[in-house]
Amino acid sequence: KHPLNIVKMKKMKQEGNPITMITAYDYPSAKLAEEAGIDVLLVGDSLGNVVLGYDSTIPVTTDDIVYHTRAVARGAQHTFIVADLPFMTYHGSIDETLKTVRRIMQEGGAHAVKMEGGPEIAPAVRRIVEAGVPVLGHIGLTPQSVNQIGGYRIQGKDERDARRLLEEAKALESAGVFGIVLELVTEEVAAAITEQISVPTIGIGAGRKVDGQVLVFHDVLKYGSDYREKRFVKTYADIGAEIRTGISQYVSEVKGKAFPEEKHGFAAEDGVIEQLYG
Ligand code: KIV
Ligand code: NA
Repeated sequence: KHPLNIVKMKKMKQEGNPITMITAYDYPSAKLAEEAGIDVLLVGDSLGNVVLGYDSTIPVTTDDIVYHTRAVARGAQHTFIVADLPFMTYHGSIDETLKTVRRIMQEGGAHAVKMEGGPEIAPAVRRIVEAGVPVLGHIGLTPQSVNQIGGYRIQGKDERDARRLLEEAKALESAGVFGIVLELVTEEVAAAITEQISVPTIGIGAGRKVDGQVLVFHDVLKYGSDYREKRFVKTYADIGAEIRTGISQYVSEVKGKAFPEEKHGFAAEDGVIEQLYG
């Protein structure tokens, strides 16, 4: 099976066939998401928050993205993989930007990159696209600018903000993006953008009237020790609770000498590797 591509994604928009996207940061999460039938995987810099324990995406480096993208690419060999360009890696010289993109594609194995921002990043987007790399835009709440925005707030709440977002979307479309993530944007503004651009919009906290949805893996599955429910997320499993229960049973069985049992050990005649399984 071949991965989805950006031509098919545009067709999905035209046909009203929603694009499904979830983040993945390692081999098992990527493999499980692929087996579950996801259209697109995102190696988001949200990995800073959800797997590295930072309190924002700002500390995430190119090395981090490359490392995690490699694991994801090994796990999901038939799925389209987008990786985030990290904080401040596309605002300086174009040579530096292209070098970062090259590493993420060549060393990491991504099929595309995602970049946060509007007209100010359009020249960089254009150069990356000209190099043959699909770019996914990302506007609305852009976590790499959290210190400038002043927190994680809903975007597009007044006329002026709505107009700004629409202009950003159009600038990105002109620069050649294959799609745009809309994060924490009002449903009305997300719908207007979706209608007025030809490439797919992928919403997160952007309501129903977009061309696809993206959520963070750990949010969908409540996978984390300090999980807090967000209104725009729907949780489909409680993996955190499962993990805590499983590990606490393991701890108590070892303490209580209930594990291991005789069958878990080996005798001298059990020499071959097959006997590791079953
Ligand atoms: O890093 C991330 O997970 C993202 C999504 C929220 C779109 O950028
Ligand atoms: Na991100």
